[in-house]
Amino acid sequence: MAEASAQQSRKPGPTVLVIFGATGDLTHRKLIPSVLGLHEDDLLPEEFAVIGFARRPKSDDDFCEGLIAALEEHSQGRKKPAFQELRERIHYLQSTFDDEKGYTKLREILDAADAAREVPATRIFYLATPPSAYRTILQRLEQSGLSEETEQRAARVIIEKPFGRSFETARELNEQVAASFSERQVYRIDHYLGKETVQNILALRFANGLFEPMWNQKYIDHVQITVAESIGIEGRGGYFEESGIIRDMIQNHLLQVLTLIAMEPPATLHADSVRDEKVKVLRSMESLTPETVAKRTARGQYTASAVAGKDLPGYLEEEGVSPDSTTETFAALRLSIDNWRWAGTPFFLRAGKSMPKRITEVAIHYNQPPHMLFGKAGVADMPDNVLVLQIQPDEGISFNFGSKVPGPDFDLSAVRMDFRYAAAFGTSSADSYERLLYDAMIGDSTLFARRDELEEAWRIVDSVVAGWADCKMKPSPYPAGSWGPSEAARILGKNRRWRRL
Ligand code: BG6
Repeated sequence: MAEASAQQSRKPGPTVLVIFGATGDLTHRKLIPSVLGLHEDDLLPEEFAVIGFARRPKSDDDFCEGLIAALEEHSQGRKKPAFQELRERIHYLQSTFDDEKGYTKLREILDAADAAREVPATRIFYLATPPSAYRTILQRLEQSGLSEETEQRAARVIIEKPFGRSFETARELNEQVAASFSERQVYRIDHYLGKETVQNILALRFANGLFEPMWNQKYIDHVQITVAESIGIEGRGGYFEESGIIRDMIQNHLLQVLTLIAMEPPATLHADSVRDEKVKVLRSMESLTPETVAKRTARGQYTASAVAGKDLPGYLEEEGVSPDSTTETFAALRLSIDNWRWAGTPFFLRAGKSMPKRITEVAIHYNQPPHMLFGKAGVADMPDNVLVLQIQPDEGISFNFGSKVPGPDFDLSAVRMDFRYAAAFGTSSADSYERLLYDAMIGDSTLFARRDELEEAWRIVDSVVAGWADCKMKPSPYPAGSWGPSEAARILGKNRRWRRL
């Protein structure tokens, strides 16, 4: 296909982005702003168009007016000039997702545009709809011949999460996708992989001589991956009740970050080479049993509280949440990777809503020295050597180590070496959707989840969910605005603490 040649140039070849669910929140908040960001960075091809495909009757102008209003709301109109420059290339096609005529019309439009230029445009179909519509859209795309590729023209589908809600449902969805598109054409989005700092995990590990030799169980005591959000569920009660934090965040974002931290060096940076190594990590992780779930996991649910004079609602008071809900808004897991590199080094994952602050980081805790020379200080008093990859906000990398406190005594204290992206490069990172859309346009699927990765991640998550049901583990309450229930400390074992962030 057009992939290899397109990858060599900076700008993608001619592309049409067809967005299903074009009047929804994702289009407004992420997709259109990302297209505009790519335009501002001069990364869109000359021949580029967006076709919004949705149910509501609208003209192109109505559609554009709606997008402008959304830009006003979500980006304070900053992107309006870019929008005006692209406006002529943004169109609307009204159809239900089921109506074959809508797809025939879409095909006619795309074929006519291809006939008018020398090079046919890559067709990207973005499923930004509720998952219940995926099946129908995929079938119709296939029946109308829109999923077909030719020697000159690529066709790709981008699929949003949630991608299933269990191993079984994810597999079913994968089967549906496979009936319409080959795996090479499929781009399953996990927006964490589009974050600059998540990609920098690979650079840190494989572009430096220092870290990799010590990146294993001999030197690393444990790894903590934290994704804390200060927001609650933001009006998404209906969705969250069905997913809980384990499906919403751990199945995808945290496990993806874990695979990048734990994977072996890939042979090349080609998409399948990288993804082969990531999936091997997941395959090295056993499913949990009800016994191990009881010992190695913790669940929490936030309750109403007041922080700095501000009342924060409890999860049970949120709209769309059942008053006796047992859905978790916090979870912590201790996972092991049973392979040569990581045997005996636990990976601790924690994710929570309504925490004191928004922060995502990976902390690599190195072993203590075998013997402490410094008088009254014992090994346990020594601060851990911790390499911290801060993914957001204030992106950076720091290294914490012990230093002598100036003075006649040999007192030790934790100090920190610090690298901050903003200070070093002076630019802010592009939104992750921008990066991922661009990659889909040039046909690079490295930063998208492959079918086997996704199914392996569900296998692990299913075992935790089943264990919770089996041992009747209800979420423990934690006050909104706090770091989660105290039981989360139980899973760490002796001499380890969650990092105070
Ligand atoms: C989404 C989850 O995938 O990620 C949300 O559905 C969550 O619940 C969001 O708030 C967090 O993303 P970010 O980029 O703000 O960390």
